[in-house]
Amino acid sequence: MDAIDVIRAKRDGGTLTPGQIDWAIDAYTRGAIAEEQMSALAMAILLNGMTRLEVARWTEAMIRSGERMDWSALDRPTTDKHSTGGVGDKITLPLAPVVAACGAAVPQLSGRGLGHTGGTLDKLESIPGWRASLSNAEMLDVLRSAGAVVCAAGSGLAPADRKLYALRDVTGTVESIPLIASSIMSKKIAEGTGALVLDVKVGSGAFMKTAGNARELAETMVAIGADHGLRTVALLTAMDRPLGNAVGNAVEVAESVEVLAGGGPSDVVELTLTLAREMLASAGLPDRDPAEALKDGSAMDVWRRMITAQGGDPDAPLPSARETHTVTAPASGVLSRLDAYGVGVAAWRLGAGRARKEEPVSSGAGIICHAKPGETVTKGQPLLTLHADDETRLPRALESLEGAYEIGGTPSLHPLVIDRIS
Ligand code: URA
Repeated sequence: MDAIDVIRAKRDGGTLTPGQIDWAIDAYTRGAIAEEQMSALAMAILLNGMTRLEVARWTEAMIRSGERMDWSALDRPTTDKHSTGGVGDKITLPLAPVVAACGAAVPQLSGRGLGHTGGTLDKLESIPGWRASLSNAEMLDVLRSAGAVVCAAGSGLAPADRKLYALRDVTGTVESIPLIASSIMSKKIAEGTGALVLDVKVGSGAFMKTAGNARELAETMVAIGADHGLRTVALLTAMDRPLGNAVGNAVEVAESVEVLAGGGPSDVVELTLTLAREMLASAGLPDRDPAEALKDGSAMDVWRRMITAQGGDPDAPLPSARETHTVTAPASGVLSRLDAYGVGVAAWRLGAGRARKEEPVSSGAGIICHAKPGETVTKGQPLLTLHADDETRLPRALESLEGAYEIGGTPSLHPLVIDRIS
């Protein structure tokens, strides 16, 4: 087989054969296809798309590039959730313990933030002592003792995707629905979960800015799940404003603990419970009530066991940033807009996120939103509090908040849950 023939076939709008796809993924993983050739192929896929059969085969080939995990030794059904990423999206933190408290096991391989969207591992790493890297045997131990585990994917899981994702990141080929869908689903299928709920974010703070694109991505991923025998459901949810009040790392852990203690912002609670019900139904446990697990403290018990099992101290004070700066409301009226992207970029510039994969993040950096769109504010009241370790980060963060909020007018917001695709 020849890389140039495969590139030409896709460049000219053709359909790749199963043999071409298997060969291209395997040869790229082994280093037999050069980075520039794979980047041309990725661009041809971005421009010309893929059929359902091509996407299924591409996903299968990426799964086969590495190990496939197996949780059959557990005495509970497994289910997981994947979010396409957003601003203030800390839902995994309360969700995994809630679902485990209701009787399912949650084996979640999670990622780090890049750009303006936060990463679950970065948030959890703000807990003193907590460790993201676990062996497969350690994952199984945590699942047995706590019912849920959230950790980093090892290098043996879908190595083709690891390499291809890094290449797409620097070649303008991230925003391809078949490539995003196959990337996410290859990792989730290789992870070995028995069922999967996808939270596909829609709005300025998400990868998919419109409900139409998000629906296409969701349908592609649900179809890949079906083609691989994985029960998969997708919800399209709002990411036009930040989720909850906290955006950052330690501040999002603190907000998640509030939810586990029975409080917390209503949108975080509502989305946690909605996703928990979907996960429990997908795991064959539709009668369990996740709200009860928040009320009776059983989800908090799972959280504490899960954090402790990974070396963390759930009682340790969380890090806080050295500098704070408060933005006050310039007028009285209804907060009609608080743009997720603007707030996400500001938190990133404060140090909560990274510009390059190898950079560290600041645990204490982030933003607290004191009002949500639709609420009435009074001139001079605190609107946003910025947290940073280094005050030189404040001016650029403030720049990205210019025009990110509006007082007066009628809010035009997506409903929290926009649609369900199965
Ligand atoms: N997340 C992934 O894992 N892959 C993508 O391509 C995009 C988001």
